[in-house]
Amino acid sequence: MSNNRATPLRVAVLASGRGSNLQALIDAIEAKQVNAHIAAVISNKKDALALERARKHRLNDLFVDPKSFAGRPDSREAYDRELLKVLHQHEVELVLLAGYMKIVTAVLVNAYANRMMNIHPSLLPAFPGLDVQKKAIVWGCKLAGCTVHFVTEGVDEGPIILQAAVPVLEHDTPEMLAARILDQEHKIYPRAVQLFAEGRLRVDGRRVFIDAGKPEGQAIISSS
Ligand code: GRF
Repeated sequence: MSNNRATPLRVAVLASGRGSNLQALIDAIEAKQVNAHIAAVISNKKDALALERARKHRLNDLFVDPKSFAGRPDSREAYDRELLKVLHQHEVELVLLAGYMKIVTAVLVNAYANRMMNIHPSLLPAFPGLDVQKKAIVWGCKLAGCTVHFVTEGVDEGPIILQAAVPVLEHDTPEMLAARILDQEHKIYPRAVQLFAEGRLRVDGRRVFIDAGKPEGQAIISSS
């Protein structure tokens, strides 16, 4: 693992559901493929499997209840201000959205500009939003895939860091395609984190350049 950091990059993972991308990151860190420490796993859902995975690996698991902020006009911003407090307390350098089903506001986006990533199961800018594996099939796409991007205020719109493509097969169901894409998510998300840890990501407008280290392509085409 090439690295010029003395200490592991401190990351937080925000997740609302099953947390398989969190697990992939935990595994990559344990395998010393990624030089990071998961300082906190935060969820807006009390029962998120992601929190259970965090506990299993003795990571800080935090449920921040959106209901505590409901009913006020700035409830979403107030929620994000609370998250920001937690992120600062844990000295988080990079925030990772991984199946986080809540739109982040400018409060977080600005505080973590170019330091917050998301993983999305389509080849952006095609198919932002939800049910995207189904949409790829309905549109007759021959390739689908996933994208790691920096987070900006527009949903699924930020500068693209890494993508991986998979074929869409004739008899694919959305679930089959989603599983094929998920395999690739588990590879490119940890890789993007490691590139960040190595200080190799450079954002220029909409484009993210990967500074030379060991030779590496920006797009991965999988044959499986
Ligand atoms: C993934 O497909 C990711 O691309 C999307 O939400 C899903 C999260 O899955 N943003 P998991 O919770 O990491 O298993």
